[in-house]
Amino acid sequence: MLINRRTFLAGSAASLGLTNLAMAQSPKRALPIIPLTDLTNGISRRLSLNLQNAAHDFGTGVSSQTYGINNSYLGPVLRVKQGQTLPFDISNNIGDITTLHWHGLHIPGAVDGGPHQEIAHGEVWSPDVPIRQRASMNWFHSHTHGKTAQQTHKGLAGVLLVEDEASLDADLPKTYGVDDFTLVLQDKSFNSKGQMAYNLSEEVFEDGFLGDTFVVNGAIAPLTQGLPRGLVRLRILNACNARFLELSMQTGAMTVIASDGGFLASPVEVSSILMSPGERYEVLLDTRVAATNTLNVTSEAEGFFADLLGRDKTTSLIEFSTTATEGFSGAMPTHLANLEPPRASDVKRTRDFQLNMDMGEDLAALAIAWDNFCGDAGAMGINGQPMKMDRIDEKVAKGVPEIWRISVDDQLHPFHIHGCSFRILRQNGTPPPAYAEGWKDMVHVEEGWSEVLVSFDHAAPEDAPYMYHCHILEHEDCGMMGQFTVS
Ligand code: C2O
Ligand code: CU
Ligand code: CU
Repeated sequence: MLINRRTFLAGSAASLGLTNLAMAQSPKRALPIIPLTDLTNGISRRLSLNLQNAAHDFGTGVSSQTYGINNSYLGPVLRVKQGQTLPFDISNNIGDITTLHWHGLHIPGAVDGGPHQEIAHGEVWSPDVPIRQRASMNWFHSHTHGKTAQQTHKGLAGVLLVEDEASLDADLPKTYGVDDFTLVLQDKSFNSKGQMAYNLSEEVFEDGFLGDTFVVNGAIAPLTQGLPRGLVRLRILNACNARFLELSMQTGAMTVIASDGGFLASPVEVSSILMSPGERYEVLLDTRVAATNTLNVTSEAEGFFADLLGRDKTTSLIEFSTTATEGFSGAMPTHLANLEPPRASDVKRTRDFQLNMDMGEDLAALAIAWDNFCGDAGAMGINGQPMKMDRIDEKVAKGVPEIWRISVDDQLHPFHIHGCSFRILRQNGTPPPAYAEGWKDMVHVEEGWSEVLVSFDHAAPEDAPYMYHCHILEHEDCGMMGQFTVS
């Protein structure tokens, strides 16, 4: 069981017909390759991102109303290099207020794109975003106060790959769409007409939105993809609003080489990885070992399946077949990056954060007054307080390592901190799995507590603070978020 029983049972509103609809689609579609904007060789002009209303067919044969960023759904994959400054012009044409946050980037609060950097409809936001951090897979998504869940679900999200000298030189596959794939995983629900649906109910606020159909890069799974002979790299983002995903390969082991904030010290071979919403992992496959392989996801079964089977359900996301083409012929690397074990012994400051599911009536009323969005459900918060835009919860000194200790009063939550990468010391009271020992900006918290070692290199003033929050986006919108300055 991936998620505690309560979450598991509560998510049972799913309608069976949708799964059937997805399964009825055949022959299988090809994996869409998201358009790449490769800037690693230089930037000669401002970078336009147009947030727009669009129509997108996920594979049901009908168009759904979506948001896209230059595309009909999601944004481009931006590939940039450490040392660059990205001159964005971000136009909001969605007909609603929005923001665009750079998840995983170590950048000043003023350009972080959090809820304080609102872009009104028809306006352009032009942040210059400095890339100073190491090679890593990051992403961008709406972070509009009270509207993050619905806007991100509708398509305001994209991937930003940071490269550095070492990653560009590394003996690893790096030909985009050939032996280096970016995979954006999401769960959706479609109505009887085949259109994407996001219906809010009290359950959706309690558990976050859980769809019954998986999509990869905006297309309903399972998908197919031919791979060259040799090593192949998968850069994977869990962009679900709320769903934890356990990923595995049909032939057995998978090799993890990077987590949220960069390369691991050396590859870690595992039989599966558990990814929360917001997490990224990079995986290497050797197609010389097996002619076919499948990327599978195991997740809580829902509705009918949960009642009938009472156990998790495995779905294939992408069916890979090896072609006759020779690809990246190198061997599995043995060393990836210099990564010291985290040193927490001389840290002087520990901060405690408790994620609260049920705030009681008085605070729930306040939460709504403070523009949190909870539907009919009670408000959520952190340390007894729902999110409030004009309250600074913590003041952090720049460059000074701290321990942040996170606990919960109920359920499983993915906790995220802006403006940094951290190291996990404890996850639910135990050391993290080896594949989560490197640079991270997400940590799981359920029973017990989790602890991270964190420090911040950029400033975030009172009018542009950083956020920390649960990355179940409906929880974030409902007030499970706080803000801090760095100076
Ligand atoms: Cu990915 Cu504050 O978010
Ligand atoms: Cu973030
Ligand atoms: Cu949560």
